[in-house]
Amino acid sequence: MTASQAQVEAFDLVIFGGTGDLAIRKLLPALFHRFVDGQIPAGSRIIGVARESLDDDGYRSSLRTALHEAGGTKAKVDAFLKQVGYRPLDARKDEGWDAFAALIGEQSEHVRVFYLSTSPELFVDICARLGHHGLNHGKSRVVLEKPIGRDLASANQINDAVGRVFAESQTFRIDHYLGKETVQNLLALRFGNALFEPLWNAEHIDHVQITVAETLGVGHRGAYYDRAGALRDMLQNHMLQLLCMVAMEPPSSLAPDAVRDEKLKVLRSLKAIDETNAAQVTVRGQYRAGASEGQSVPGYLDELAGGKSNTETFVALKAEIQNWRWAGVPFYLRTGKRLPSRVSEIVVVFKPVPHSIFGASAGPLAQNRLVLRLQPDEGVKLWLTIKHPGPGGLRLRHVPLDMSFAEAFGVQQPDAYERLLLDVVRGNPTLFMRRDEVEAAWRWADPILAAWSASGEAPRPYTAGSWGPSAAVALIERDGRTWSEDGE
Ligand code: BG6
Repeated sequence: MTASQAQVEAFDLVIFGGTGDLAIRKLLPALFHRFVDGQIPAGSRIIGVARESLDDDGYRSSLRTALHEAGGTKAKVDAFLKQVGYRPLDARKDEGWDAFAALIGEQSEHVRVFYLSTSPELFVDICARLGHHGLNHGKSRVVLEKPIGRDLASANQINDAVGRVFAESQTFRIDHYLGKETVQNLLALRFGNALFEPLWNAEHIDHVQITVAETLGVGHRGAYYDRAGALRDMLQNHMLQLLCMVAMEPPSSLAPDAVRDEKLKVLRSLKAIDETNAAQVTVRGQYRAGASEGQSVPGYLDELAGGKSNTETFVALKAEIQNWRWAGVPFYLRTGKRLPSRVSEIVVVFKPVPHSIFGASAGPLAQNRLVLRLQPDEGVKLWLTIKHPGPGGLRLRHVPLDMSFAEAFGVQQPDAYERLLLDVVRGNPTLFMRRDEVEAAWRWADPILAAWSASGEAPRPYTAGSWGPSAAVALIERDGRTWSEDGE
């Protein structure tokens, strides 16, 4: 779509936080898949960087399990690992940086990508050192993993510090949800078909639901997660980006700024949620012990070493976009850990027909729904009303036109990171967040966090394996609507 599949030139990609969970579970396997497809040219170097004192071979061995789990044969994994190396470095200490700069400098003509997959507190130090060692030549790029800060003030601090070394055009703020096939398909669906756009407004759409449900708990990520919580971890970024893709005006092209300008307008039109209304339109929860996928699992507090916390592992809220297109159309968002199934979807619910010509015997007339499934199996469902076949009177049924991308195209969808990593190498920022977008998202999220903290209330408990606190059900049912279940 936005980036061609054209071959890239040999490049260097340095992953700070190279021994971390994200690097090992996602980034290296994504690069491996691109390697297997012949998209990592010979001569490219992938260099993991972290504080652990490992050598190249030690690092390579630590990656083998993940690469085999990603489907790699021994021969392919061996070939890929020849392009992978490791350097121990501490962002806060001088030691090792000169040698690192010399190593990077060996291939001065390569595009250089510095991927900061570390805690955001280190972004400032790492960028300062990259600048100090002259590592930003014209073809350098920096990738910032979310969350960028923990509020607007800290995001500004980080963005200012990064901006002292890298230009905005070199800065790629990644939100891997934008690399998911269905999210990009939203663009194709909305703007490649004449069918939807005329109906895509408050006159015809009743409401929109966005759910990102996970079965996993926080596990060993507790130290990070407890400082973040669901609003900062998922809603301020991934879910707002999904909302933007649904709600934005048609951009004039897929040029990076054309798309990002439209998303920004949506973020700036979000109705404020603050102390005056947070209690009515937001619900936060925290899981207690329960069962997940047939196994008993501990509660959030049991997983934390400290044992006490007011961090939310679930959030549901009603957002509103104050513009002509969306006036009065609620966007219900919910996300949580330890929910009953792993499912992410966007459900666009259309208004009922204005008048029914069918008698009571035909059965109820359901509203049309367009369901975009991001996971587990990516696809699109359009729920329509049809007549049940055969004699016996006119009986109405609500059935889906159902397209699974894997079945329709016979291919497994690539992981979101695969596309995004190569977009960085190609220098295509369309699917990355611009600084003003991140700021607008924090500007909206900060008052929600402030309202929660001012209320002094603890998050509502919910049993692991349930759909969150009952107040989340009440949030939508108060408006006479229900959460969509099983893609309906
Ligand atoms: C990450 C969050 O950004 O997204 C995690 O930090 C979350 O907490 C993950 O589990 C979900 O990503 P995906 O692609 O598995 O839905």
